[in-house]
Amino acid sequence: MNLTLHVWRQAGAGAAGTFVQYEAKNVEPDMSFLEMLDEVNEGLIQRGEQPIAFDSDCREGICGMCSLMINGIPHGPERGTATCQLFMRHFKDGDVIYVEPWRAKAFPVMKDLVVDRSAFDRIIAAGGYITAATGGARDANSILIPKTAVDEAMDAAACIGCGACVAACPNGSASLFTGAKISHLGLLPQGQPERDRRVVNMVAQMDEEEFGGCTWHGECQEACPKEISIDVIARMNRDYLKAVVMQRAGNGRGESGNG
Ligand code: SF4
Ligand code: FES
Repeated sequence: MNLTLHVWRQAGAGAAGTFVQYEAKNVEPDMSFLEMLDEVNEGLIQRGEQPIAFDSDCREGICGMCSLMINGIPHGPERGTATCQLFMRHFKDGDVIYVEPWRAKAFPVMKDLVVDRSAFDRIIAAGGYITAATGGARDANSILIPKTAVDEAMDAAACIGCGACVAACPNGSASLFTGAKISHLGLLPQGQPERDRRVVNMVAQMDEEEFGGCTWHGECQEACPKEISIDVIARMNRDYLKAVVMQRAGNGRGESGNG
């Protein structure tokens, strides 16, 4: 099939950007969206032009590097699918496709379709870890964890940090990402000692990075390639409220139960 692409081109962070039209010819239905862009780039390189800059790494839906706004939808039209796993069979001959970078103040464009997502790294550094004693690995059954907690923690841990939730949100909020990271540790016994500090520090960092607030549009969970539920935002808000109330009462929770 043959397609017409309108791709956002921007030479650098401070430069003005614009859409540039390209023809993608002889696109195979089994190509991924990124492979289609690779082919377009081959043609640009052969003509001595600058290839289109875009992010990718694993190309199998696990690293979170791919990050394209395709026809106004983060990761394109297929639900629960990262850009690297979006195949061209979902498009048809003659389609016109607009390709843009994530649009959010906290994700400045670095070049063409590449944005700076280091704000996410700083949110993780603010509390997205547990402190564990070193030494030999503990027996897997020495800490019993309820099946429901494991399942919910694993659902939250599926977040690949792509940023589609931010790009989809009219407020540019990072609440789905931050809520997922807080949930996946906060639901497990190993995550309890730092649970209060974690939520307070990660929410503070999220605000510092100038992500917007969550007003429950729900666009984030629709765009998320891992279909993470906005339940994680409700859990983050509840944990935050509890932690702040306890702090004001001068009574840090320390270890607390799952939930
Ligand atoms: S919550 Fe979903 S959309 Fe947001 S960063 Fe994680 S995987 Fe990407
Ligand atoms: S390139 Fe790794 S998730 Fe898409």
